[in-house]
Amino acid sequence: MDKYLNKHIFKIISDIADSEKIACFVIGGYVRDALLNRPSKDIDIVVTGDGISLAKKVAKKLGNTKVTVFKNFGTAMLKTPEYEIEFVGARKESYNFDSRKPVVEDGTLEDDQRRRDFTINALAISLNKETYGKLIDPFNGVSDLKSKLLRTPLTPDQTYSDDPLRMMRAIRFATQLNFEIETDSLQAINKNKDRIKIVSQERISEELKKIMLSEKPSKGFLLLEKTGLLKIILPEVDEMKGYDIKDGQGHKDNFLHSIKVLDNVAKNTKNEWLRWAALLHDIGKPRTKKFQADQGWTFHAHDYLGAKMLPSIFRRLKLPLGPHLKYVQKLVALHLRPIVLAQEQVTDSAVRRLLFEAGDDIDDLMTLCEADITSKNDEKVKRYLKNFKLVRKKLKEIEEQDAVRNFQPPVTGEIIMETFGIGPGREIGVIKNRIKESILDGDIRNNFKEAYQLMLKIGDELGLTLKSNKIN
Ligand code: CTP
Repeated sequence: MDKYLNKHIFKIISDIADSEKIACFVIGGYVRDALLNRPSKDIDIVVTGDGISLAKKVAKKLGNTKVTVFKNFGTAMLKTPEYEIEFVGARKESYNFDSRKPVVEDGTLEDDQRRRDFTINALAISLNKETYGKLIDPFNGVSDLKSKLLRTPLTPDQTYSDDPLRMMRAIRFATQLNFEIETDSLQAINKNKDRIKIVSQERISEELKKIMLSEKPSKGFLLLEKTGLLKIILPEVDEMKGYDIKDGQGHKDNFLHSIKVLDNVAKNTKNEWLRWAALLHDIGKPRTKKFQADQGWTFHAHDYLGAKMLPSIFRRLKLPLGPHLKYVQKLVALHLRPIVLAQEQVTDSAVRRLLFEAGDDIDDLMTLCEADITSKNDEKVKRYLKNFKLVRKKLKEIEEQDAVRNFQPPVTGEIIMETFGIGPGREIGVIKNRIKESILDGDIRNNFKEAYQLMLKIGDELGLTLKSNKIN
């Protein structure tokens, strides 16, 4: 295991631990990630003795390094330019049923390993000279790493009940690392699912974010569904599950569809918010679902309702409510537009309107819409994607011609007032709106001259008197 420890910092810790005669180990995520060849910046050091005092001595040796001590937890943290290193004394923990906060006592290294969440997170490597690099693996974590399995050192029921956040962590690690969760664990998560309510929403959402940013997020959402957690933390997504059949007509399972769209989007972007838009784009469907004899299953205005449902979901999940929410709302509200365009004739004015409404988010909207084609019918998929190519080409042409992506009215309210010698009033809005509509319809081009001519014409229609004319 020496090859994982050839960092200068470990040698320094090792020397000081030896001279202080305390047993000292690297433990947890750093060891797991080293064995998986994943770079990690967080190092956890466990000592049988006083972790805080060791941390202070290491900091002194490094010079110019600040130690932050958390006396209540018996931990100390050092920040070097490369790493965040946390020192703690080995401990035993016992938990109270109503809280995630354990009662802590000093313990042996094995006590410390046993209280951890998964066998793969309970691996320790010795830093003392005599045993430097020796792996201490009492729960067969290395074997679980090899077989890509998440198992708990204690019984799953106890591990998850002790700290219910671990249910989210299990699903997050399974998704991030593409591991499986042992069957007993899955059952224990299902049994303890309601205990997730004692975990703060911030911690739950942090795990959701990591699931979301994984290579194949659908895996996490399938596990959340299977264990019953989804219904508790994201009931609106859970509601999309299943399908009905009436008069021989069915509709797709919108949950399975949405997580497929999410995976498709994830192949093309790391943008977390575009991924949220993919997961939530059909969120309005269950509440707008109707069966109509002549049309079959319909979900009229689910785009509009979906966008409206988002603020309360974001608020509950404690996701940011500013521009990120607005962006996801915009994509959800507009997600049907490119498809309608691709199905029908791609007219310039429809493309111009879409560009106007989507603004700079147009490329992300197209990425979402392309990902939304999850039909099993290859011919259909090909046809749609071909039409989308055409939409993208048209978008480019129209943008070059008319620059409506970040539309600014070419004639301002001030010019209108000056031209007709009027003060602020409803005429200004009427004129500006008609100019905008005419540009979007393609009746005039998006430039000052044509907009000004139209303004004069509308002013005349409204019975306004010309006071100054900039063109002649
Ligand atoms: N741990 C635990 N139960 C938790 C959280 C953490 O047992 N609810 C233990 C695990 O041994 C874990 C270590 O504390 O490896 C460090 O936790 P943390 O830094 O949160 O996670 P990592 O495992 O390092 O993984 P990541 O950085 O991906 O969150």
